Amino acid sequence: MWFVCRDLVFSVPILVLLFATTCLGSFVKTENKIKSAVFLSPKFELGPGSVVNRYYYGIDFPKGHIAVKSFNAEVVDEAGNSIPLHETYLHHWVVARYHQSKHVRHTENDSHRMLHNSNHVLVRNSGICQGNVLGQYFGLGSETRGTETHIPDPFGIEIGNPEEVPEGFEEKWLVNIHAIDTRGAEDKLGCTECKCELYNATVDEYGRSIRPDYKGGLLCCSDYAQCKLKDGFEGAKRSLYLRYTVKWVDWDDSVVPVKIYIIDVTDTLKLSDDNSKGINSDHNCKVEYRVESCSMDHMEGNGCDHVMKTSVPLQNGGYVIYGVAHQHSGGIGSTLYGQDGRVICSSIPSYGNGNEAGNESGYIVGMSTCYPKPGSVKILDGETLTLVSIYNGTKEHTGVMGLFYILVAEQLPYQHLRHSTRSSFFMDTNNMLLDS
Ligand SMILES: *[C@@H]1O[C@H](CO)[C@@H](O)[C@H](O)[C@H]1NC(C)=O
Ligand SMILES: *[C@@H]1O[C@H](CO)[C@@H](O)[C@H](O)[C@H]1NC(C)=O
Ligand SMILES: *[C@@H]1O[C@H](CO)[C@@H](O)[C@H](O)[C@H]1NC(C)=O
Ligand SMILES: *[C@@H]1O[C@H](CO)[C@@H](O)[C@H](O)[C@H]1NC(C)=O
Repeated sequence: MWFVCRDLVFSVPILVLLFATTCLGSFVKTENKIKSAVFLSPKFELGPGSVVNRYYYGIDFPKGHIAVKSFNAEVVDEAGNSIPLHETYLHHWVVARYHQSKHVRHTENDSHRMLHNSNHVLVRNSGICQGNVLGQYFGLGSETRGTETHIPDPFGIEIGNPEEVPEGFEEKWLVNIHAIDTRGAEDKLGCTECKCELYNATVDEYGRSIRPDYKGGLLCCSDYAQCKLKDGFEGAKRSLYLRYTVKWVDWDDSVVPVKIYIIDVTDTLKLSDDNSKGINSDHNCKVEYRVESCSMDHMEGNGCDHVMKTSVPLQNGGYVIYGVAHQHSGGIGSTLYGQDGRVICSSIPSYGNGNEAGNESGYIVGMSTCYPKPGSVKILDGETLTLVSIYNGTKEHTGVMGLFYILVAEQLPYQHLRHSTRSSFFMDTNNMLLDS
């Protein structure tokens, strides 16, 4: 029943409002302490087979010193209708926080690249990939309609703390939307898996040539790429939006902050213990990988399962409040283990078996989530975690992902004392998703 809205009583008035308005603005609703707003991203246009991979800067976002409680999103058309994945495949959306110099007057909000300059500094999450890679606060893919994101009380993601914003800067938000219109596609799954041959891709969006052994992935379905259509297929271009719903509470001492960690199964870590302070680690998250069809070297257990695994230490531990994995079509499930082998969280995809938005046959339409009783699942400081991501290896899959997103509270409510440390830190700017 993952697809049924949890707080139905709460969301019905929002739905009524949504149907009653087609305006592009937002509205804020308050019930008890929880506030909620629905926003639309800037408009993007897609014709059959086409791709957008855009970065929109300065998007609408709740203001003030607050704790975010949930973040949901979906693709809609101009009339507000939900668009099914077999028409517009939502490869991913990623929402990130950054600091912008107050000297910047005009913010370009439709850049197909992430801005790399001293006027825009990404404020990444707590880790653990290199540079800005996977530094987002929120983000999901095709599973977005059916995946729980709420953070239980008294926890929340703290944002908008003026003490964390450097002098001369302000806090802003950006969204990266990667969507593929597969109407009329000769091979819909191939287009969503960014198979290079379907896109005639030989160079990436920066004109660098793509290795011949790279069969598919983000390099081949960049912004403005075009996937192969059935002969003679014609379809209209249409205007779409990412509609996102944010819930939050005003910040106060009763809210316990959680840190965001994203672990990537492709992370290969160079460990060097020559540092007397302990482990000095050098992460290398590649974000995507290829599942070869039933290759002997990855076979484990169940016949054709493709198993990918990585082990990485988490410098600062804490109590796991929420966990969810991200996989693509073909994914069977993903589990995060502690150093002693205990399960920290297991997250399993659900596939649709119909036609309508939220139940599209063959697509991952939701991921199960973990809500351990606060205090019951603890990660120790410096503990090495093992992430396992399993795909069905019956067919080859390109450009798949194996990410795990966890929210960790360093203190439980009764231990919690307000302290205003600077939790944000600055990293050199690089592409947020794929390091260049
Ligand atoms: C940026 O996006 C906003 C909507 O979020 C829109 O009103 C505005 O016109 C856009 N600006 C540019 C320069 O495209
Ligand atoms: C790819 O290239 C082939 C041969 O040049 C051409 O027939 C085909 O239409 C191209 N496909 C796309 C999607 O541009
Ligand atoms: C999905 O669609 C199928 C076929 O119409 C239907 O049997 C099933 O109940 C639907 N599932 C959900 C979750 O709505
Ligand atoms: C793997 O995929 C094949 C078809 O592609 C399917 O028949 C099989 O049931 C799948 N196995 C699992 C464990 O999902």
